[in-house]
Amino acid sequence: MTILKVKNLNKVYGKEEIKVKALSNINLEINKGEFVVIVGKSGSGKSTLLHIMAGIETPTNGDVIIDDISISSLNEKERSLLRKEKIGLIFQSYNLIPVLTVEENIKLPTINTNNKSDEYINELMDLLHISDRKTHLPSQLSGGQQQRVAIARALINKPAIIFADEPTGNLDTKTESEVLQLLKESQKKYNQTIIMITHNIDIAKYADKVIKIEDGVIRE
Ligand SMILES: Nc1ncnc2c1ncn2[C@@H]1O[C@H](COP(=O)(O)OP(=O)(O)O)[C@@H](O)[C@H]1O
Ligand SMILES: [Mg+2]
Repeated sequence: MTILKVKNLNKVYGKEEIKVKALSNINLEINKGEFVVIVGKSGSGKSTLLHIMAGIETPTNGDVIIDDISISSLNEKERSLLRKEKIGLIFQSYNLIPVLTVEENIKLPTINTNNKSDEYINELMDLLHISDRKTHLPSQLSGGQQQRVAIARALINKPAIIFADEPTGNLDTKTESEVLQLLKESQKKYNQTIIMITHNIDIAKYADKVIKIEDGVIRE
């Protein structure tokens, strides 16, 4: 079953002489429960594609369809509701709220939902080895610990789709494989779809499908 479709997507940044064509005529179909890895050189358009698929950036033309809903038909408020209900986001930078504790940061996406997360938050903190840091502030954590908090926050609502932009780029090799293992387990347990950018080709071994992107174009 298709969960996400990308149709004739183009993205151009800037205008006239400073125009950058970041994506050219991208078409994709991603099935529910798939682990998809997007690989490509720096500047090839990976982050742009991920941001557009996640509804946080708008395409120049073309469309993204998630669960039969066309993102372009939604206004900003509806898009943000769709993200809250269906999407988990993990970025290269952790984007944690500096004045909130680890536990409060992880719980953030559950606000205004019926999600009773207490058991799951403890499970996630255990799995990610951050339970002993739950009352700490982000500034009191290492980069790797902050990224694990960001990952727990992305998983807390058990989203149907998880978008991750080089999520393990700042982790040591051991933590990297633990985090990937955890994402893989979560994917299987909750039938989640994971769409992950990496320039580490070794990560492709976790993937059901690898998409190669070169200068804004998909290469088969
Ligand atoms: N906000 C922006 N304004 C102008 N150009 C941008 C912007 N974001 C990305 N680009 C350009 O679009 C191209 C693709 O960038 P990006 O999607 O970040 O690639 P990747 O994630 O593969 O490194 C690059 O040439 C980059 O310089
Ligand atoms: Mg990028």
